[in-house]
Amino acid sequence: MSQSANPKTKKLPAFKKLYVKTWGCQMNVYDTRRMEDALRGLGYQSCDEPNDADMVILNTCHIREKATDKVFSDLGRLRDYKSAKEKNGGQMIIAVAGCVAQAEGDVIMDRAKYVDMVFGPQNYHQLPEMVANITGAYGKNRIVNTDFPTEEKFDYLPEETESQGAVSFISIQEGCDKFCTFCVVPYTRGSEFSRAPEKILIEAQRAIDMGSKEINLLGQNVNAYHGVGADGSTWNLGRLLYAVSEIKGLERIRYTTSHPRDVDDELINAHRDIKTLMPILHLPVQSGSDTILKTMNRKHTAEFYMDIIGKLRAARPDMAFSSDFIVGFPGETDKDFEDTMDLVRNVGFAMAYSFKYSPRPGTPATNMQGLVHPKIQTERLTRLQRLIFDQQQEFNDSMINKTIPILFEKVGNISGQIHGRSEYYQATHVNAPSRLVGQIVDVKITAATMNSLSGDVVIAE
Ligand code: 5AD
Ligand code: SF4
Repeated sequence: MSQSANPKTKKLPAFKKLYVKTWGCQMNVYDTRRMEDALRGLGYQSCDEPNDADMVILNTCHIREKATDKVFSDLGRLRDYKSAKEKNGGQMIIAVAGCVAQAEGDVIMDRAKYVDMVFGPQNYHQLPEMVANITGAYGKNRIVNTDFPTEEKFDYLPEETESQGAVSFISIQEGCDKFCTFCVVPYTRGSEFSRAPEKILIEAQRAIDMGSKEINLLGQNVNAYHGVGADGSTWNLGRLLYAVSEIKGLERIRYTTSHPRDVDDELINAHRDIKTLMPILHLPVQSGSDTILKTMNRKHTAEFYMDIIGKLRAARPDMAFSSDFIVGFPGETDKDFEDTMDLVRNVGFAMAYSFKYSPRPGTPATNMQGLVHPKIQTERLTRLQRLIFDQQQEFNDSMINKTIPILFEKVGNISGQIHGRSEYYQATHVNAPSRLVGQIVDVKITAATMNSLSGDVVIAE
């Protein structure tokens, strides 16, 4: 109901509508939530449609191709909404955030004069200030804010006061110093930064107190985590996981995304010792060819990767793995590609993402010789995906007739259905009452597709 519907009610401070569109990784989803938190203090509340919003933020991703094109096509539509609103005497602030903003801020401002602000992933804690500057001189004061500030963003963001639900995401590490030759992250997100362990533990405790059962620790290179504690000691991810696992009421812990080179002994031990640490690890390898791994600057071999998988399986025999692959990287021969296929066969993944290499402006790989023809890229991707999808189907099929714990996260679009996830992160759909959302419940799996499970809740005797 609109606030002016009842003339007798005291006039509430006007709320403004905020629409955020999010592309990309979980980190961007997390950033969107924190942007919404930062703007709530200024009276902004999230809405579902951009048409009539007072502020629209496009939170963009630059990791693979066509990112900028997609942003401009969305901006074109927003321009129409904005002029319609202005014709009626209203205002619409249009902002571009995230990694495209970081990488191409000036281009955006130049090509789209109706964009009011552009800011990078390290600047959104300054949103209230930026919005105040814009609204003071609407349409005049355009802002580009893509510096890497010296202050810690998280110190300037308001505490989360609303539960994220059954699963809480906590950013513990940002940026990356690895400089894989295909990747924009070190340029768009900046160098590695780890938050203090005490702050993370407080946030995790609060999330559990507000009703979450699962904590998902996020970072671009999460297992490079090296937070400095109040006593000056450095914590690695393993140590942090042990500490997080002590939180009462916490039933599941995950972390993503990891680099093989940062899997140390303490992390392996954590997988051995912590029962609440879920038995699936997303460990991107990108290629199974040592030559390609070298030109990608991954700084490890295929054997090294297999070794880590072996160690983790020895520590926790029910451990499963997911990964990312790039096919058609410059210089990739048939033999290199076959090495990737072999690695996939040898590991046996629960799930994996695979992409055709796409040149990212400013990254070293764009200058490499030996471009792989798009047709060959497509052929290789199709073959790799067929293999991966077979493994996914096989892994999901192995759950049929088993009774497994599912953490229910939300009600589904189909009436009567609720959605959750297994310990192995498999999306699971069940016909069950919505009161089970937020709980871990035993489900007997009756069917599996490549991407999901379904089954029936097992009623305790
Ligand atoms: N081309 C194709 N895939 C890429 N990725 C990152 N950069 C590129 C690129 N230039 C993939 C990697 C990474 C995932 C998040 O996106 O596989 O692990
Ligand atoms: Fe990008 Fe990951 Fe490599 Fe860092 S480790 S440069 S984020 S692919």
